[in-house]
Amino acid sequence: MAEDLLKVFREAETPHVVLTMGKGGVGKTTFSILLGALLAGSGRKVLVASLDQAMHLEEYLGLSGRNRVERVDSNLYAMQVDIGREVRRLGQSYSTLLSQLMPGLKVINVESVVEMIKHAPGFEEEAYLRELARLYALKDFDYIVVDTPPTGLTFRILSLPSLYSFWLDRLLELRERIVSLRYVIARTAGIEREMDDPVLRKLEEQKTLFDELLERMKSQAKTTGAIVATPEPLPVYEALKTLEFLGRMGLPAKIIVANRVLPESLASMMGVSEVQEENLKKLLSAKCPGRCVKLLIPQSPKTPHSLEAVKDLIGSLKIVVEGV
Ligand SMILES: Nc1ncnc2c1ncn2[C@@H]1O[C@H](COP(=O)(O)OP(=O)(O)OP(=O)(O)O)[C@@H](O)[C@H]1O
Ligand SMILES: [Mg+2]
Repeated sequence: MAEDLLKVFREAETPHVVLTMGKGGVGKTTFSILLGALLAGSGRKVLVASLDQAMHLEEYLGLSGRNRVERVDSNLYAMQVDIGREVRRLGQSYSTLLSQLMPGLKVINVESVVEMIKHAPGFEEEAYLRELARLYALKDFDYIVVDTPPTGLTFRILSLPSLYSFWLDRLLELRERIVSLRYVIARTAGIEREMDDPVLRKLEEQKTLFDELLERMKSQAKTTGAIVATPEPLPVYEALKTLEFLGRMGLPAKIIVANRVLPESLASMMGVSEVQEENLKKLLSAKCPGRCVKLLIPQSPKTPHSLEAVKDLIGSLKIVVEGV
């Protein structure tokens, strides 16, 4: 049965990135580990990486550090990203840029610039995006399963490249005009001036990063979106919103997961039988833009807070709708 799930990757090019999304607490991290274990068990070399600052991947797998890849099983590796590192790096690159632009400003207090920039709209998202781009660029793995941050933030991160693309085009045009005008004025005044410009370089670097990432995220061969929900109203609502969002941005959603499904007898004993059934129906009848697999993971009697406990769930997976 588990092999059926892997059919979704039939046309995947490696390295292939799986983005796991869903409401907080529905089992994104658990599913990311489970999928990682499945893929690794089928002979692929897999990295499960978490961008979620709740750091649950680190906890469940007992990782010993952050921002570094650790082997957790044969063929299976894991990494908990701590976004603080990238926030710092990015803040420093912006403060260097500022000091290049304002050479009169002798001492720039990097700490205070980083502190200030950190709260600018889009800054944190850019830091996440750069970490994501780094994961996409990894060549050592066949699959990279990415456990994402909470939905709202993930939407903002994933929207950033197309949102910025338009602005960056305009900004590049403007900056190119400024730089060439400066050059002409300097030449007319008999001053030798470099055409090289740090702002132009920064804008070009951003444009390349965002355009390449957007192309990869939209590619069926390079990306799979996996949406997880528990069979309850809010998680299912959020899952359907996520499906819509991914459809709009053109990111191929190919896996829908109903997690923590209770056996009928238990659901009815707990009085949640109807709610579960209704929400399962909604989730399983959701339309993916292309072909997709729908998967049911039962509620485990023991909390799956270790690799072994997550692997124990593999035997009881159910593929409900198989569209591949
Ligand atoms: N199938 C399952 N059976 C029993 N417990 C589960 C199952 N799936 C997940 N859990 C438990 O539910 C809790 C939430 O799961 P998990 O941490 O994977 O969700 P998440 O969506 O990543 O949450 P967060 O948004 O907090 O990162 C955890 O305690 C986890 O062990
Ligand atoms: Mg999590």
